[in-house]
Amino acid sequence: MKKILAVILSVILSVILSLAGITACAADGDLTITLQIGNPVMTVNGADREIDPGRGTVPVLVNDARTLLPVRAVVEEMGGTVEWEDAANTAVLTYGNDVIRLTIDSATAYLNDVAQTLDVAPALINDRTMLPIRFIAESFKFDVEWDDETQTVTVTKAAEAAEPTATPAPTATPAATAEQTAAPTDNDRQESKTLVAYFSATNNTEGVAKHIAEGIGADIYEILPEVPYTDADLDYNSDCRANREQNDDSARPAISGTVENMDRYDTIFLGYPIWWGNAPKIIFTFLESYDFSGKTIIPFCTSGSSPIGSTTAMQNVTQGANWLDGQRFSGGASSDTVMDWVNGLDLEL
Ligand SMILES: Cc1cc2nc3c(=O)[nH]c(=O)nc-3n(C[C@H](O)[C@H](O)[C@H](O)COP(=O)(O)O)c2cc1C
Repeated sequence: MKKILAVILSVILSVILSLAGITACAADGDLTITLQIGNPVMTVNGADREIDPGRGTVPVLVNDARTLLPVRAVVEEMGGTVEWEDAANTAVLTYGNDVIRLTIDSATAYLNDVAQTLDVAPALINDRTMLPIRFIAESFKFDVEWDDETQTVTVTKAAEAAEPTATPAPTATPAATAEQTAAPTDNDRQESKTLVAYFSATNNTEGVAKHIAEGIGADIYEILPEVPYTDADLDYNSDCRANREQNDDSARPAISGTVENMDRYDTIFLGYPIWWGNAPKIIFTFLESYDFSGKTIIPFCTSGSSPIGSTTAMQNVTQGANWLDGQRFSGGASSDTVMDWVNGLDLEL
């Protein structure tokens, strides 16, 4: 009897909820949002929703490269919030612990207070604030795909990753408390001949490095500076430590710890953030610390938008190494995206 009552009650409850227009929050399952250039309606897990309710605003393509649109409804569907600071002409977008600040007509955006360079600046078009969806979604660690044929942007996040986390906000490089050594990701398996070595000041590159190491069962080693970078050291709008190092050809920031047995690795994935179009100088310290002759080095990086660029300067400090072409990722690149690249390299690991 109790069972029958419970079933009747749950049916009544779901009817009331659906009448009230309450649907399960997108964060409870996989989330897929599609947006099309010129179309005022987006789809959220297949259901039509107006992008700019009551106004009919459509996404626009700027410089044939970046989609701008009014993002409030999209960000709210993602589970985030949007606030507007009138005086500063700035939109403040929040998702979990991540905060993006975007200012009209400025190509500099801030993700968690770190300046990022945009390909296309936010703009006022027909009185609506139009913001770059790829930058926003990738910064919030959603995947973004562009279909040129249908002029459609698809923003996705898998269920387990959809809920904003309440973990403490990422800080600059954690203090090096102990000597860092390369650690196998799985102690039970055979010794790996592949090492993923990375430097990451704000943890974006770390995410990609972990995807690679986990995806191929490689050892992983974090290049930790002896003197950690503070937020002020990374404030690239000022005369900060990172800027000074990038402008100084002889800068070689010291590394805390060593790779225990570099001899045993024949392939090294080398990860870093792009700083002013290049690898941070600590990567040069790393490359000058070991003998890489006969080894294959595969660079990868994360950046706000800059490509990986030339690695010639790095190649010049390693003698006899075999450098492969590198790959740039956005900070929130998914394991699938990263592993697609790794698998495409056809390495014999
Ligand atoms: C000093 C400094 C310079 C930067 N220069 C660039 C740049 O030239 N182009 C770019 O797209 N992003 C630039 N960025 C943004 C970083 O490349 C981006 O946030 C990266 O994902 C950070 O990776 P991490 O979290 O692993 O440190 C810069 C960041 C800093 C701190």
